[in-house]
Amino acid sequence: MPLLLVRNDITKMTVDAIVNAANPSLLGGGGVDGAIHRAAGPELLAECRTLGGCRTGEAKLTKGYRLPARYVIHTVGPVWHGGKFGEEQLLRSCYVRSLELAAAQGCETVAFPLISSGVYGYPKAEAFRVAAETVARFLENHELTVYLVLFDRVSAYLGDRFGDVQSFIDDAYAEAELKKPRNQYASRIEEPRDILAADTGELYAPEDLAEACQYMAADAPASAPKEKPLPLFQKKEQGKDLENLLRQMDKGFSDTLLQLIDQKGMTDVQCYKKANVDRKLFSKIRSDPHYRPSKTTAIAFALALELSLPETQQLLSRAGFTLSRSYLSDIIIEYCIGAGIHDVLTVNELLFSYDQPLLGS
Ligand code: APR
Repeated sequence: MPLLLVRNDITKMTVDAIVNAANPSLLGGGGVDGAIHRAAGPELLAECRTLGGCRTGEAKLTKGYRLPARYVIHTVGPVWHGGKFGEEQLLRSCYVRSLELAAAQGCETVAFPLISSGVYGYPKAEAFRVAAETVARFLENHELTVYLVLFDRVSAYLGDRFGDVQSFIDDAYAEAELKKPRNQYASRIEEPRDILAADTGELYAPEDLAEACQYMAADAPASAPKEKPLPLFQKKEQGKDLENLLRQMDKGFSDTLLQLIDQKGMTDVQCYKKANVDRKLFSKIRSDPHYRPSKTTAIAFALALELSLPETQQLLSRAGFTLSRSYLSDIIIEYCIGAGIHDVLTVNELLFSYDQPLLGS
C-alpha cells in the first residue's frame, strides 16, 4: 500500500492513528508533542501518566480523545549527536515499533511527523531519508496507508539529492517555449486523441492526428510547405476505414502493462508495490482490459518497470496520455527517468517539493 507525502498539521488529520514525537516522560512538551496534547485535551495527558514513560526508539499507544484520529502512538526519537551514536538505528526503530503497534491495533491509516527533526536536531534530509526507507520497507509486507506529514518546505528535506534538477527544468521550459508551434491551428499538444480539426470540429482518424501532431509539434515554419499551408489532415470517410482502424488499434493499457510485467520478470505484487499503487486499484486494472488509469498511476507503473523515456511514452499512450514539456510535473518525470531515478517514493519527494501531483494511488 502507498506511502504518501502531505503538507499538513498532523493534529488535523482524520486517520486511524497519528504518531507523536514525544520525550521519554510522555508528559507533553513543545513542537508536535505540544500541538497534539493541546488538540487532544487533558484526557490524553491523564492516560499518558499511566504509561510509565517510554524509552528512546520504543512506542506506546493511547486513545486520541478530542483529535480526529482514533489513536495516538507516542514514540521517542533519538537526540542528534552527530550520527555516530546509533541515532539512525534508534530512529528506524521509532517507525517500526509505531507501525507494529498500529498494525496490531487494526489501523489502516497512520500519519507520522518527521520524528527527531525538530527540537532533537536530526538533520531534516537525513531524517526524511530514514523515515521514507523504513516505512517503505515495512509496507512491502503490510497493507497500511502511511502519511509522512511535512511541516516545512520539502526542499529542506531534499538536501542535494537531486543534483541540478532546477536547471534541467529551466532548459526544458525554454526548449518547449522555442518549440511552441506557430501555425494558426496548433494548440498545446496534450491528448492527441482529443484534438479536433480547428476548422470543422470533426474527429479525425488517429493516424491523421499523429501525422498532424508531428506537423504541429515540429518547428512549423521549417517543416511547413512553402506554397499554401497543408490542410492539417484529410477527413477519413467512416465505414471501412473505421473497421481497419479498430483492427489496428493498439493493445490497451492493461494488456500492455501485464505484458511488460512478464517481460521484466516481475510479479504483479512486486510491480504495484514498487509503483506505490494499492492492491484494489491494481486488480481493477488487471481485470478490465479497457480500464484507463490516471496519468499519475500510468507514470508510476512506467517507473516501477524502469522503462526508458520512449517506452514510458508508449505505455502512457495506451492510456491516452503523453509526457509534455508544457507541464512541470512531466518535465520532472522526464528528468528522473533520464537520471535513472525510478524509485516512485524518491520521485514523489521531488514532485512534492514542486507542489506537483504525486504518483501512485
Ligand atoms: N504537524 C506536523 N508536523 C509538525 C507539527 C504539526 N502540528 N509541529 C511540528 N511539526 C514537525 C516539525 O517541523 C519537525 O519537522 O514535527 C517534526 C518534529 O519536531 P519536534 O516536534 O520538535 O519533535 P522532535 O524533534 O522529535 O523533538 C522531540 O520536542 O516537543 C518536544 O516533547 C518533545 O522533548 C520532545 C522533543
